[in-house]
Amino acid sequence: MSEVALLRLEGVSKTYRGGARPAVDNLSLEVRAGEIFGFLGPNGAGKTTTIKMVVGLLKADRGTILVNGHDVARDPVAAKADIGYVPDNPDLYDRLTGIEYLNLVADIFGVSRDERRRRLAELLEMFELESAVGDIIQSYSHGMKQKLALTGALLHNPRVFILDEPMVGLDPRASRLFKDMMRSHCDKGHTVFFSTHILEVAERLCDRVGIINRGRLIACGTVEELRERRKQADETLEDIFLELTEAGEAT
Ligand SMILES: Nc1ncnc2c1ncn2[C@@H]1O[C@H](COP(=O)(O)OP(=O)(O)O)[C@@H](O)[C@H]1O
Ligand SMILES: [Mg+2]
Repeated sequence: MSEVALLRLEGVSKTYRGGARPAVDNLSLEVRAGEIFGFLGPNGAGKTTTIKMVVGLLKADRGTILVNGHDVARDPVAAKADIGYVPDNPDLYDRLTGIEYLNLVADIFGVSRDERRRRLAELLEMFELESAVGDIIQSYSHGMKQKLALTGALLHNPRVFILDEPMVGLDPRASRLFKDMMRSHCDKGHTVFFSTHILEVAERLCDRVGIINRGRLIACGTVEELRERRKQADETLEDIFLELTEAGEAT
């Protein structure tokens, strides 16, 4: 595995206006090329806030975020060009057809005609959307909308693929496809960073995980490394997660 950090957060903090405590508190982490990184934590831990700062939807109060070496505060367009992002609840343009939407996204990211044709064929086949792309998005099921959002986010072949709670609402078949897709994206030397509270998925899929609780990163490493720090060898990630986040609650 390469040691190049495609995503780096250094001392990132964010307190919402009127917030009693920081939603994200002095968070530092690195995701390397070729790596699937799972960002775990209970509801309200600060996962979405962190992701929104990385993709440029929120400004960090403190700290630095680098995407493929580009500082998101100082060089936002270069950073965004290297990001593919699927939010937890993707808003698509309901009155466009699927293919109109995808062409719009490809235009915004400057994807060439040849590249577009090639990637569209590959992604639409993978997500079984070929027959639906001519229909307006309003007519799509929830799962189809998610797959369209994934397709759009992958069209420009981003170095850093960021997903907020991606498994929610995907049926088992789509979620399997999606997992294969994350792996093949990383095998090209890119990076996938996704948040989830579905531990079993993270355990099976991620090269490394970070656990966030009350805005703080309380553990980070391979599942194996986290497990080594615990008492019993047979502990699942779930056991570790529950112990760590409960300990965090008490402080
Ligand atoms: N727009 C907002 N304004 C004020 N507080 C917010 C806002 N969004 C999230 N929060 C608070 O910030 C904390 C972290 O939320 P979030 O990042 O959404 O967590 P997660 O995605 O891990 O569930 C929570 O306490 C949440 O209530
Ligand atoms: Mg969230």
